[in-house]
Amino acid sequence: MNLNELKKKAAWAALDYIHPGTIIGVGTGTTIFYFIEALSTIKNLIYGAVSSSNSSTVLLKKKGIEVFNLKNFSSLNIYVDSADEINSRMQMIKGGGGALTREKIIAKIAKKFICIIDKTKKVDVLGKFPLPVEIIPMAFSYFLQEMVKIGGIPKYRKNFITDNGNIIIDVYNLSIKDPISMEKKINSLPGVVTVGLFASRSADIILIGKKNGIQTIKK
Ligand code: A5P
Repeated sequence: MNLNELKKKAAWAALDYIHPGTIIGVGTGTTIFYFIEALSTIKNLIYGAVSSSNSSTVLLKKKGIEVFNLKNFSSLNIYVDSADEINSRMQMIKGGGGALTREKIIAKIAKKFICIIDKTKKVDVLGKFPLPVEIIPMAFSYFLQEMVKIGGIPKYRKNFITDNGNIIIDVYNLSIKDPISMEKKINSLPGVVTVGLFASRSADIILIGKKNGIQTIKK
């Protein structure tokens, strides 16, 4: 079974957590592509979606799912998204697809965060996947210097501008033993919009697509 089939399995399993008449927070990425497909099969039961990126918005609309503007919401029942890495405390690295800032807002306002993954995303220590950080362009040199100070190897994500008009630096070579303090530290640097560490707000449920079915991990 290839990875895409495992992502698809996890994505369809998330439908069990969707209640009729609700608005669903929808993430971004290749796993979410399958979730949007799955969601479209029950589109008449739900009220609509709030999307974490322009690309997911396009897909949702294509599937006939109404998309509401995130700016009008301070609370949502459920958010379904994937992760680039997730540890046993359900803390994550996200932002491989560049949508981390809106994803963080949705994660914060959602009562339940369901993380759908294939088995390769589960790790003991976060950091093998380069940590994405959205910064304003003016902070470029300063931010790179700060990342080198903490042992990181920062790389500018070429030819990529976020939905918010900013740039992304992917920080390699980090072994993140204390994700909450690292999240706070990087978020506090001037010019940083969002760090792709989802530690203080971690996931509530993980659905892992496996060859023989779904593994569910709850907090
Ligand atoms: C998007 O910005 C990311 O946070 C994605 O949720 C994450 O990168 C996982 O994406 P894939 O499903 O494509 O692996």
